[in-house]
Amino acid sequence: MTTAAALAYTGHTVSCIDRNPEVLYSLSCGRAPFHEPGLKELLADGLLLSFGGWEIFDPLADAIFIAVATPGNPGGDANLSYVETVAEEIGRRIDKRANTVVVVKSTVPPGTARRVEAIISATLETRGISTNLSIASNPEFLREGTALYDMFYPDRIVVGANNELAVDTLRQMFTSILEQTFKPPAPVPRPQNYKLPVFFTTTPDSAELIKYAANAFLAMKISFINEFAGLAEHVGADITEVARGIGLDERIGRCYLMAGAGWGGSCFGKDISAILHTARQFNYDMYMLEATVKANLRQQESIIKKLQSELKVLRGTTIGILGISFKPGTDDVREAPFIAIARRLIELGAVVKAFDPVAIPSCRRNHPDLTVIYVNNAEEAAKNCDALVLITEWDVFSHLDYEKLGNNMKQKLIIDGRNALNPKTLIKNGFKYMGVGC
Ligand code: UDX
Repeated sequence: MTTAAALAYTGHTVSCIDRNPEVLYSLSCGRAPFHEPGLKELLADGLLLSFGGWEIFDPLADAIFIAVATPGNPGGDANLSYVETVAEEIGRRIDKRANTVVVVKSTVPPGTARRVEAIISATLETRGISTNLSIASNPEFLREGTALYDMFYPDRIVVGANNELAVDTLRQMFTSILEQTFKPPAPVPRPQNYKLPVFFTTTPDSAELIKYAANAFLAMKISFINEFAGLAEHVGADITEVARGIGLDERIGRCYLMAGAGWGGSCFGKDISAILHTARQFNYDMYMLEATVKANLRQQESIIKKLQSELKVLRGTTIGILGISFKPGTDDVREAPFIAIARRLIELGAVVKAFDPVAIPSCRRNHPDLTVIYVNNAEEAAKNCDALVLITEWDVFSHLDYEKLGNNMKQKLIIDGRNALNPKTLIKNGFKYMGVGC
């Protein structure tokens, strides 16, 4: 959706095809069907965007982006059935005069662009026609919550193609982003000192692997700092200082070194499983990635350990949780650390109350079996609790009246799972404060 909105904003005519009528209806009314800052405003900007089913497919389009989901199969591999169905449908509908580039935007294992090409060619063959069609891989690196920002101001645009036409079409399509000649949309101002992005061209297989390597590396960086956070707690160091100290080395960099309750979201876990699955097909061990996942599970468990160290047996306790989504700025709860932590607390016999500024409806919808008591605000989450745990660092949680909150708690214990709060203020208000890695 953000790709479509940005392409439309930069002057292209874009038709968005989906098979979910609710999503189409909501978008046609200018409403994004998920929480993404700035998207609603952009959709209201009179863009050349249309929404519909296959009936709005343009058989002579310059480019067709496949941006469907590739969820994980039970064995960890990426489910490519949606990608393949779309490829077949394109083969059925494309005009024989078309000069189209089919762009695979979905996160897919190496070889998928080739597979898409083969499916389209086979379908064209059954129609007894051939077209001047080319395939490219163009992975996306958007973060939820800042997706528009990442779309308009990327570090790089990666294009994997074996064909000049595909590379030229995509370069042209992204020219105004590559040269930053567009007027920044009001909700997504251009950052100061922004450097023009690199247009990086390579083979489709490498482009596909770049996406997995990028996500795996970021997850590994977080697991790395979380592992050191655990050690910092033992030796009496402060992980925030350690992260700052190493991040100043440009070879290491400052980003993705925030220790916390673990990484979550729809990408890191799913993509690591998928690439581990690919590696297993070659009997090739990826030790670092296996450890990245293991360290993340331990990190979520460390929140439970902290509660146990203070409250001892958790059966019969009431725990208030601040933050449900896998990070601030989104209502996405896929692989959110909250889910695993809440489940474990309930298993151990605790009552869990939780508040999130936007993610409660999506959590109810996606985890109907989770017996959490959802409350309307942080005050209710804290009321009569034995401990308050911050799992997602929504900005509002930094500005709560903790003195008042604490007075309504059974015990003034706070676990700051994101090191987002001011320990001094909390301690002054009589709290026992426990952060991560400090
Ligand atoms: C990620 C990639 O960043 C993006 O490039 C890719 O296209 C999709 O996957 P996203 O899943 O939206 O994006 O979230 P991201 O902002 O990367 O955060 C992922 C998780 O890591 C969150 O749970 C976040 O809380 C956690 N995180 C992030 C940390 O724990 N510490 C950090 O320093 C950074």
